[in-house]
Amino acid sequence: MALTVRVQGATAPALGFGTWRLAGEACEAAVADAIAVGYRHIDTARMYQNEAEVGRAMRASGVARESIFLVSKIWPDDFPADRARKAAEASLAALGVDYLDLMLMHWPPRTTPLEETLAALAELQEAGKILHLGVSNFGPKLMTEAVKHAHILTNQIEYHPLKNQSETVAWCQGRDIMITAYSPIARGAALRDETIRRIAVRQDKTPAQVCLRWLVQQDKVAVIPKAATPEHRRSNFAISDFQLSEEEMAEISAIAQKRGS
Ligand SMILES: NC(=O)c1ccc[n+]([C@@H]2O[C@H](COP(=O)([O-])OP(=O)(O)OC[C@H]3O[C@@H](n4cnc5c(N)ncnc54)[C@H](OP(=O)(O)O)[C@@H]3O)[C@@H](O)[C@H]2O)c1
Repeated sequence: MALTVRVQGATAPALGFGTWRLAGEACEAAVADAIAVGYRHIDTARMYQNEAEVGRAMRASGVARESIFLVSKIWPDDFPADRARKAAEASLAALGVDYLDLMLMHWPPRTTPLEETLAALAELQEAGKILHLGVSNFGPKLMTEAVKHAHILTNQIEYHPLKNQSETVAWCQGRDIMITAYSPIARGAALRDETIRRIAVRQDKTPAQVCLRWLVQQDKVAVIPKAATPEHRRSNFAISDFQLSEEEMAEISAIAQKRGS
């Protein structure tokens, strides 16, 4: 059965496919293969410059648009309201879709007031071009501000066994907001951790599968591993058939606390 996250009455596949640093034909082939493998949550961004390739792969897959949870992001340069509208329209055009499931503010704002960007995105939401709004790289203080201005479905943050995000995660879980864990295997670094490797041997799984399972086994947490390698795409997707024990979950949670990271 597909792993899902339910928040605010919406459902998102807990296992997504990240596309940062995938470009051109390689990106299109990787996304096409990811969809064939079963991924139904795709993460892109204006900044990744691969929306056209992601869109082509989605259309060629034959999978219905509404069966894919499609996420893109607006870069801070485009946070002023008029630019945010144009950037969102440009994402829709490049992807070749009528709507996005989720549009995120890629980073906290530098100069534009948060409410200005969220209001511009909320207009697009009312027009049906964006189903949900979200943010990325926000801590609890900024989240407190953001939820005053809009319904925030997710906060996409760097989260993996080497990074303690307990405060932000608890804040979001307590308010029915999804955490989308990016760099969920710490770009490979988590795979060398001794505790992860020991648990992987015990479970007869790969270290990457243990990292991903630890994340999706937490309440309201989704993951978006990136993999240019076909075998990685397949094994990362195969995490539905095992469970980490409470002790194993706690052991992995303790890694970042011990490292102080
Ligand atoms: N919101 C933000 O600010 C933000 C920032 C960073 C990333 N993201 C999103 O999160 C996605 C994932 O993060 P990420 O790309 O930084 O890091 P990641 O998914 O933690 O790691 C990707 C790296 O791990 C390797 N890998 C993947 N699966 C593996 C496996 N099973 N065994 C061994 N190695 C494996 C990949 O190699 P191969 O490619 O060779 O398979 C790649 O080098 C991005 O693609 C992007 O969509 C968002």
